Amino acid sequence: MSDNNVVAPALSELLTHHSEKWRGFPADVLPLPVMEMDFPVAQPIRDVLLEMVSHSDLGYLGTVPELADGFAAFCEQRWGWTIDKSQLRIAADVGVGVVEVLRVLTSPGDRILVNTPVYHNFSNWINEVRLEKLDVPFVYEGSDNDDVNAWTLNLDEVEKVYASGIKVHLLCSPHNPLGRIYSREELTRIAEMAKKYGVFVISDEIHSPLVYKPHQFIPFLGLNETAREVGVTVTSASKGWNIAGLKSAIIISQNDAIDAKLKLMPPAVHFRSSILGAYASAAAFKDGGVWLDSVIEQLDQNRRMLKDLLSAKLPSVKYHVPQSSYVAWLNLEALNLGENPSQVLLERGKVAFNPGHVFSAQTSQYVRLNFATSPTIITEAIDRIIKSL
Ligand SMILES: Cc1ncc(COP(=O)(O)O)c(C=O)c1O
Repeated sequence: MSDNNVVAPALSELLTHHSEKWRGFPADVLPLPVMEMDFPVAQPIRDVLLEMVSHSDLGYLGTVPELADGFAAFCEQRWGWTIDKSQLRIAADVGVGVVEVLRVLTSPGDRILVNTPVYHNFSNWINEVRLEKLDVPFVYEGSDNDDVNAWTLNLDEVEKVYASGIKVHLLCSPHNPLGRIYSREELTRIAEMAKKYGVFVISDEIHSPLVYKPHQFIPFLGLNETAREVGVTVTSASKGWNIAGLKSAIIISQNDAIDAKLKLMPPAVHFRSSILGAYASAAAFKDGGVWLDSVIEQLDQNRRMLKDLLSAKLPSVKYHVPQSSYVAWLNLEALNLGENPSQVLLERGKVAFNPGHVFSAQTSQYVRLNFATSPTIITEAIDRIIKSL
């Protein structure tokens, strides 16, 4: 294997892994939930980790200009976004980053907007800081054309909620589980409304390195000056390069007034994160491009292979090929598996997916499938669904 040709190992090897994906279920269950990839880690990341461990360089995290430099180069090169390195902060993970930003931007009882179905921990983070959650859900418009967004966000409804008085809009951009990229028009309108109604936009951009051509991710702070006046981005190398266990994320702003508020975060936000994670992330952003492109190519094949498999073997399952990241959002309604299809598939087929109801009460007939694995495992997963029917 090389970084030019990233291939997932056999199931027997994956079963030896210690992570949540591989420890969360009995060994006879094929696990396809949890957003970890089954691919071997990039060489530049291995190199920096091995070097630091071999030098016993495992203390508390000091200043890390390497991370700001690497991230800045990556943003410039991939998206033409020039960051302000002086406003880059480090947190243990994106969850911690969002929670800590919320602590300084809001007070308990303030209202925050999300758009479901969305990454289920958004609710947990919001509960942690005791905010009131409002929702303008995405609406399924349906489309057989995979290049068109099947899920739309009614921005007039969003404006009504902004006008009613909220503090924060928490965006998932690109979107998990819909695999959807926000358009320039959508983000521009969100930024303008946020400025008009005094709303902060926190943009969780953890999935942004993993975008399929011809789709183009637009970083919220790279959009325009209005976005920079209202926005804070929280992101990480952890999804793109599959290093979630290393615990390192980035909080970034590009506006002096917002920077002044973020200065109120305790210094511990930095010190609670991992030295290995920070240097692995720096290596990922700086030197991990070859590996990333190879993984995107493999994922691109997998997302299309899944479409072909479903068309051939389970044509009643609805699946819109995602524009980013590595989860497929499958509507299993036509299979008539009862209230909780994922539970039935787990019991009868020994195959695990994330249940749709955790992303939104309205999407209980969906499951989320992680296709960042080998074609063999994806095929086996579909066969196990068929066996469960
Ligand atoms: C949108 C989104 N944000 C955050 C996370 C978790 O990130 P972290 O482990 O850095 O908190 C995930 C994980 O799947 C995610 O999909």
